[in-house]
Amino acid sequence: MPTITYHQPGGDTQVIELEKPDRIMQAALKNSVPGIVGECGGQAMCATCHVYVREEYLDALPEIGDDEEEMLEVTASERDERRSRLGCQIEVGGSGLEAIEVDVPEEQV
Ligand code: FES
Repeated sequence: MPTITYHQPGGDTQVIELEKPDRIMQAALKNSVPGIVGECGGQAMCATCHVYVREEYLDALPEIGDDEEEMLEVTASERDERRSRLGCQIEVGGSGLEAIEVDVPEEQV
């Protein structure tokens, strides 16, 4: 079963098992994962779903789109050039990415 693991700044970890493909932001909201806001509903217009993807999963990620690139410039917590992505733009399960681990930033707004 595809999984998304969310690591909180304080050290807590939540592992979500997906019954069907889902995006990092949407799965977080459905499962009440703290620190992921998703204000724009997944339109790459708010950056409140910012996550840091763990190194071992970076090669499997889709390219960063223009809208995502723009939003990553205005994240509340500092952008990491390699690891920062928008959780609403990354789908897990069904697209070649069956598991991912992300670090949730200290701040989203
Ligand atoms: S939910 Fe708004 S940019 Fe991802």
